[in-house]
Amino acid sequence: MGAVSDATPQTVTAPGAIVHRADSPDAPWWRDAVIYQIYPRSWADSDGDGIGDLPGITARLPYLRDLGVEAVWLSPFYVSPMRDAGYDVTDYRTVDPCFGTLDDADRLVDTAHDLGLKVLVDLVPNHTSTEHEWFRAALAAGPGSPERDRYIFRDGTGSGGEDPPNNWPSVFGGPGWTRVTEQDGTAGQWYLHIFDVSQPDLNWHHPEVREEFHDILRFWCDRGVDGFRVDVAHGLIKRDGLPDWHGAVGLYDEIDEEGPLGVGRDVEDLWSPDSDVLPHGATGEAPMWDQDGVHEIYRGWRKVLDSYGEPDRILCAEAWVKPVQRVARYVRGDEMHQAFNFDFLDAHWDARQLRTVIEASLRSNDVVGAPTTWVLSNHDVIRHASRLGLDQSRPRPNGIRADDPQPDAVLGLRRARAATALMLALPGGAYLYQGEELGLPEHTTMPDEYRQDPTFHRTKGQVTGRDGCRVPMPWVKDAPSLGFGPGGSPWLPQPEAYADLAVDQQEGVDGSTLELYRALLHYRRTHRIGHGSLTWDALSSDTVIALRNTPEGRGLTLVAVTNLGAEPVRLPVGEVVISSGPLADDGTLPSDTTAWVRLPVT
Ligand code: GLC
Ligand code: MG
Repeated sequence: MGAVSDATPQTVTAPGAIVHRADSPDAPWWRDAVIYQIYPRSWADSDGDGIGDLPGITARLPYLRDLGVEAVWLSPFYVSPMRDAGYDVTDYRTVDPCFGTLDDADRLVDTAHDLGLKVLVDLVPNHTSTEHEWFRAALAAGPGSPERDRYIFRDGTGSGGEDPPNNWPSVFGGPGWTRVTEQDGTAGQWYLHIFDVSQPDLNWHHPEVREEFHDILRFWCDRGVDGFRVDVAHGLIKRDGLPDWHGAVGLYDEIDEEGPLGVGRDVEDLWSPDSDVLPHGATGEAPMWDQDGVHEIYRGWRKVLDSYGEPDRILCAEAWVKPVQRVARYVRGDEMHQAFNFDFLDAHWDARQLRTVIEASLRSNDVVGAPTTWVLSNHDVIRHASRLGLDQSRPRPNGIRADDPQPDAVLGLRRARAATALMLALPGGAYLYQGEELGLPEHTTMPDEYRQDPTFHRTKGQVTGRDGCRVPMPWVKDAPSLGFGPGGSPWLPQPEAYADLAVDQQEGVDGSTLELYRALLHYRRTHRIGHGSLTWDALSSDTVIALRNTPEGRGLTLVAVTNLGAEPVRLPVGEVVISSGPLADDGTLPSDTTAWVRLPVT
C-alpha cells in the first residue's frame, strides 16, 4: 500500500462510539488465539545437517508454552524437491526425510498437545510439485488424457503452438506457462504455473482434485492436527477461458499505487462482503485471483472439519486480496475461520493509515461475524523490525541486498516493538513469525550465492526475494550456528547481529524484546484482550493511535496508545502495565512507542 495522501479524509469513527463489540468470554479458541509460525527449515536442527527438523521443533516446544502462545503453524514439511522450500509438494501425506518421519510428526503433535499448544499444518492446494505422481502421470499420458485434466494443460498459440496459451506471468518472474516435451520427443502442450516452473497449478474443476484434498484434510485431522493454513487460498479457480491479463500479479512486494481500496475511503462506504459486485481495482479483476468459485471449495472443507466436532479444527486463508471487504468473504460463517490481515502488515508507519486499516478490517469482518486475524511478519515478507526502519514513503520491496538502501536498525526495532504492542492490544487473533519475539532483523547483506528463493533465480537477480527473512533462529550466543543445531553451517548464513539477540541473551533480561513479548502475551491472555471491544480514545490524532479495549466481565479497560509522531504524548491517567520502550522521566510517551494503560471501570 502506498502512503495515504494528505487529502485522505479522517475515515474513522468518532472517539467513544463503538467500532467493534466484545466477543463472548466463552467464544471458541481460535477467535482470539495467538499463533506462532514455525518455518521448519530454520527453527531448530536436531541432527546437525544444517536444516531444521521436526525432532528439533519438538524438543524446543516448551519455549513456546513459556512464550504464551496458543498454537503453532508449521510451514510445509512434506516430501518435496524443495524448489520452493517445500511449497512444492510431492506427497501430501509423508514427511520429507530432511525433516524426519511421520512418527516424528505424530510425536510433535502429541508433545504440543501435552503442553497445551494446538498445531496447524500448511496445506498447499493451488499446485503440486512436478514430481507429484499425478503430474508424472499427466506427462506420460499425453494430450487430451484424463491425467492431464487434473492440471491446466493447453495447446500453445501461434502456427506451431510455439507461443503460450495466454500472457500470464509467474509470480516469481518469467512466464507462467512451460511447454512440455511429449513422449515421442516433439514439443507439446503447455502447463500453467502461477509460481515456479516446478509448481504446476491444479485444475480445481476436477472432482478428483476436490476429493483428494478432502482426503488430505481427513488424513491430518485423524493424526490430531487442529487446523490448516491454506496456501494461496485466493488462487485455486481461474476465470473461464483464461483471458489475457495486463495488470500486476505479484504478491510479495507492494505495488506503488494510490493505496489499497478500502483504505483512504470513507469506512461508511463499506459495501457488504456478501455483495457480488466486484469493486473497481479489486484483486479479483485479475483472472487468476479471488474468483468467486473458490468459496464453494472452502464450504466443502468446512464441512469436513466440522465433522470432527469440538474443539473446532480451523482453516486460515492466505489470501492476498484487496479490498478488506473481499477478504471477509473467506471467513463467512460456513467458510474459513481466519484470514490473514495483510493490509495491516502492509500499512506504513502512519497513524491515519493504521487506524483506517484497523477500523475497516474490524467492521468488514463484523458484517460476517468473523474475528480479524492480525499479522506483521511471515516467511514471505521483510521482517517488520527491518521493514519499519525503511523509508516509509516508499513501497515495501521484496527483499533487501547489501547494495540497497539499508534499514535503520535501531528505529526499525523500536517501531517493531511498538507495532507488536499495538497489534496485541487489538481484538481478534494474531500470528507471530518465528524470531520476531527476539526482534530479529532481516538479513540484508546475504551473499547472493546462498539465495534459494526461486524469485531471485527466475528474475536473474533483479528481485532479491525472501531468503533474508528465513535465516535460522539464534538460540545460544556462544554455540555453533548460534544454537540452531549441533552443525556449524546452517542452510542460510546468520547475520552477525543475531548473536546478541539469541534467546539466551534475552531470557530474563528486563526490557529485552523476548520479555516484552512474554509480558504482552501474558497480559493479553489473562485479561482476554483478544475478546475485547474497540472504541477510539480522544487522544487519537494524525500521529497518535489510541484505542480502548474492554473485555467483557473483566472489570477493566485497556487503553493502548501508540505515538507515531515526533512530540511526546501525555498518557491517560491510569496504571501503565506495559510499554514497548521506556517512558520519559516526566511520564510522557516518546515517539515510536506503545504503552498499555489500565483504566479501572467504574
Ligand atoms: C505462498 C507461500 C509462499 C510460496 C507460495 C507458493 O504464498 O507463503 O512461501 O512461495 O505460496 O506456494
Ligand atoms: Mg536437521
